[in-house]
Amino acid sequence: MEGYEFSRGLDHASIVAASERVAWTVDEVFRDRRFDASQPMVPASWVGTQGLSFLDHHEQRILNHCRAFSYAHLLGNFEEFAPPHLGGIVQQDWHDDRARLRALLRFGDEEMKHQQLLRRTELVLEQSCGHPFGRYFDDDKVRVTALTNAILAHPPLPRFLMVLALEWGTQRHYVESIRDQAAERGDPLYVDVLKAHWVEEAQHVKSDALEIALLAREMSPDELGGTFDHVLALGGLVDAAFAGQADEEVETLRQATGRRFSDAEATTLRDTLHRSLSAIMAGVGLTHPSFTKVAIELSRDGAAKLGIA
Ligand SMILES: [Fe+2]
Ligand SMILES: [Fe+2]
Repeated sequence: MEGYEFSRGLDHASIVAASERVAWTVDEVFRDRRFDASQPMVPASWVGTQGLSFLDHHEQRILNHCRAFSYAHLLGNFEEFAPPHLGGIVQQDWHDDRARLRALLRFGDEEMKHQQLLRRTELVLEQSCGHPFGRYFDDDKVRVTALTNAILAHPPLPRFLMVLALEWGTQRHYVESIRDQAAERGDPLYVDVLKAHWVEEAQHVKSDALEIALLAREMSPDELGGTFDHVLALGGLVDAAFAGQADEEVETLRQATGRRFSDAEATTLRDTLHRSLSAIMAGVGLTHPSFTKVAIELSRDGAAKLGIA
């Protein structure tokens, strides 16, 4: 793995030890608490609708709760492909280094626990707010199964890069929710959910870096450049979910308030929500300095396809 700056100093045994040290349970995070529906829960910058003058204070607050919900809903469903993605890597050699396989298996197990954390977040948000929220991913799992299959059809390296970007994004989500807390009072339970998620994701980004280095060293510069076409295609898959969930947010606002929007207002609102959802879930990871460093070191031409120079 020598040769890549981004994986230097990382080792599987330390990743497993850190993972054991920071582990939590979903019950410990929630402790029977609820979210405070009388206040915004996430930073206003996550929603991006402050400039829309046709929305009043109450509607802005409901949209803020919608965004808290959408974040949990989308992330929980995106993460469903992680266990089979990691399982495929582990299956290639059951007799490899114990620490490496433990790190990857714990990674997969933690992602399944995160799905439970995020699902609990969805349900407690509905209880706390007293109304249901629209879901792009149906309970019969038709959409998430299709998304998982479409993601797994791409090679492992671009999959690891997409995971890496999403995971570095979760660091920003936690840090920003704390930083903005002084001005906007982020919901304490929501902050704890973000924190719990990030402390385990912080180990995953290290496993990702080691696996990326391992896969990349077998590849030619052309193949590495081509990897980023797959990353773009993976970005297109998740963008369809951003657009669909933005529609759900508009519908939830309509249902919760009885508000009727003109066609022009509905279009503006939907576009604004789609843009901000994409920015907070994909943009924050793809522009994270720890991600851009990996992308550039793998392939300058490839990174340029993502707009990274
Ligand atoms: Fe996760
Ligand atoms: Fe993760």
